Amino acid sequence: MKFDKSDIIKALSTVDDPDIKKDLVSLNMIQDIEVFSDAVKFTVVLTTPACPLKELIRKNCVDAIHELVNPDIKVDIQMSSNVTTTRNSAPLLPNVKNIIAVASGKGGVGKSTVTSNLAVALAQEGAKVGIIDADIYGPSVPTMFNCEHEQPSVKQVNGKNIIVPLEQYGVKLISIGFLAPADNAVVWRGPMASSALKQFIGDTDWGELDYLLIDLPPGTSDIHLTLVQTVPVTGAVIVTTPQKVALADAKKGLTMFRQPQINVPILGIVENMAYFTPEELPDNKYYIFGEGGGQNLSDKFDVPLIGQIPIVQSIRESGDNGYPAVLKEGKTKEAFTALAESVARQVAIRNATVKETKTVEFKV
Ligand SMILES: Nc1ncnc2c1ncn2[C@@H]1O[C@H](COP(=O)(O)OP(=O)(O)O)[C@@H](O)[C@H]1O
Ligand SMILES: [Mg+2]
Repeated sequence: MKFDKSDIIKALSTVDDPDIKKDLVSLNMIQDIEVFSDAVKFTVVLTTPACPLKELIRKNCVDAIHELVNPDIKVDIQMSSNVTTTRNSAPLLPNVKNIIAVASGKGGVGKSTVTSNLAVALAQEGAKVGIIDADIYGPSVPTMFNCEHEQPSVKQVNGKNIIVPLEQYGVKLISIGFLAPADNAVVWRGPMASSALKQFIGDTDWGELDYLLIDLPPGTSDIHLTLVQTVPVTGAVIVTTPQKVALADAKKGLTMFRQPQINVPILGIVENMAYFTPEELPDNKYYIFGEGGGQNLSDKFDVPLIGQIPIVQSIRESGDNGYPAVLKEGKTKEAFTALAESVARQVAIRNATVKETKTVEFKV
């Protein structure tokens, strides 16, 4: 068997990243090629550890080498990842690769439930993840992460007070709920909430993160504007439930991000409470809020439907108990893991195809 490194590179140049539609060699995704007499070893650097196409890419690499170089070569592929970013020149949060706004038209559709489980699922896949809970009307991240009675610490850096986020289940957290007790939230609305969000972005030690999720208040508010005026937001995830009344509001939320002055890419729509599944009949699906609502919205706005999460009693219980449902094995975990992979995939596609979002510089 006679082949060298250049034969391998040539073969791998015919393998495309299925989403980005460019070949792995040009994308610099192939590294550390070692050639032996009858074997080759190399690393594929994926765009996210939560890559749902891992096995397909692996198979396509092996097939290309067998077809184009020699069918008997033993191919040993290591998978690693380096999450992509367009936030290269960001003055704030330069070590945060992607900022993802999680928004909804209505309250109570499961925005915080989705944010919490999405964050934990991404962390389980090996990503570095943080959450800013900016929902002044109902900060629920402290409850959902069982840290209601904790407080983030503050440290001094160059004479400035810097907030140190809490960490739970592998996710760094900060919440407006830590500053404003629920029964006192009213006085926090408006400018104070906006200034708290700015502090969470500018004066918090997030370290290096692959994904920073922002749990926004429902609807469109000053907090949304403060966010897009303060940092370039990589993309937005819109959470809705399938009923007409929820979808109508989700459209408004989605349209806000698409306004030309704001121009934040929509990564996808999550249909929460998509169907009811009784715990004892896990294969039964009852479309109690109607069927196809999320898909219709997705078709109409040409945005991918990136997840359908069932309504399951244990999701509510886990939220109340502060132990996100994705931490337990089962169908619910599968649904949230699939969602995390879809989000990570859409972020990678967005980063490969759309330029950095600009911060909004004027009042809209
Ligand atoms: N898929 C689901 N199955 C069961 N209960 C859910 C589901 N999603 C959310 N819930 C529950 O519905 C309530 C509202 O969800 P929450 O995430 O707080 O909504 P939002 O942040 O949009 O206001 C919570 O009690 C939560 O536990
Ligand atoms: Mg909430």
